[in-house]
Amino acid sequence: NKGCKLVGCGSAVPSLSVSNDDLAKIVDTSDEWISVRTGIRNRRVISGKENLRNLAVEAAKKALKMANVEPDDLDLILLCTSTPEDIFGDAPKVLILLDAYLNSNLFMLWQSCKVQRELGCTKSQLAHDITAACSGFVLGLFSASCYIKGGGFRNVLVIGADVMSRFVDWTDRGTCILFGDAAGAVVLQACDAEEDGLLSFDLHSDGEGARHLGAPINDNENGSVLEFPPNRPSYACIQMTGKEVFRFAVRCVPQSIEHALEKAGLTASNIDWLLLHQANQRIIDAVATRLEFPPEKVISNLANYGNTSAASIPLALDEAVRSGKVKPGHTITAAGFGAGLTWGSAVVRW
Ligand code: ACO
Repeated sequence: NKGCKLVGCGSAVPSLSVSNDDLAKIVDTSDEWISVRTGIRNRRVISGKENLRNLAVEAAKKALKMANVEPDDLDLILLCTSTPEDIFGDAPKVLILLDAYLNSNLFMLWQSCKVQRELGCTKSQLAHDITAACSGFVLGLFSASCYIKGGGFRNVLVIGADVMSRFVDWTDRGTCILFGDAAGAVVLQACDAEEDGLLSFDLHSDGEGARHLGAPINDNENGSVLEFPPNRPSYACIQMTGKEVFRFAVRCVPQSIEHALEKAGLTASNIDWLLLHQANQRIIDAVATRLEFPPEKVISNLANYGNTSAASIPLALDEAVRSGKVKPGHTITAAGFGAGLTWGSAVVRW
């Protein structure tokens, strides 16, 4: 296959809406501070029986319906998430043991397998997770395009889903005000080269910046020798140096978008929509200004959902498609950025 196109999208958010005023009841903050500094007014948070899997499955079903693709027509499911409920999934024990024995990542079957099962897939098509925080969805798109263009895969489901509410410290006003839970999904399909809808990518990581954003394992941090058998580790809540992440995003994202546009042989003026990871309205505005995208070409739904990590781009895309903003043939520049540090851009045609 020489080409790969987007044929469906879907999204899902939890039912509980939490406003800035609600947050002001649990931490020392205000609606004014949050909305002026971030542009966020509400976020959705899982409650009751809602979880990452339900959200991912609901978004995936909507995307498959729009694409007119049956679960069993899928060759691959990529679940981009950094907040899985199960880091080992429910792969058959024998595969997990074989994987450990070979020390390979051949059977990276984590959370995505549960989604595969709940979608009702009966073929043993490959499903694996991609862990790249807020850059996860762009990396998922790139991986899907490689599987299709280089690997002979025909129908690929890419889901971005995160339940950040389970990993934030609800007593830390510097982080808890930013995040929300959601899932978004797209279906990609093999096609002829002339119809190719994934036009270019530009992807980066910088481990130097890892200290600015993380949710590290709690033990052995100071390099002490582990006893045998080791204790089961737990993870810390999300820790972030907001100002550094802000500076990094405003510096690196425009450069990355320029590179992706150059690879696609396009300029900002040829592009219909700028769709950034929804982290902070001031970041979105700064990047748009630097690249000379007028406000009417910028997609933003951050006010309603906050930063939903890997879900933010497909969630905003789905809303823009279903509301009729993004029309068939429109070009979109999407960029993700976050923990790692990682960042990346994609130029796609809807
Ligand atoms: N309410 C009221 N005051 C607050 C709050 C709050 N929620 N949070 C912080 N403050 C206070 C601070 O304590 C500080 O007070 P001080 O001056 O008395 O010390 C003051 O406000 C300024 O704090 P800063 O952290 O310097 O505020 P800043 O303008 O940088 O805004 C923010 C903080 C919104 C977090 C911003 O830095 C930001 O958005 N950064 C980017 C985060 C991001 O995009 N992350 C994306 C990746 S996420 C991922 O990959 C998982």
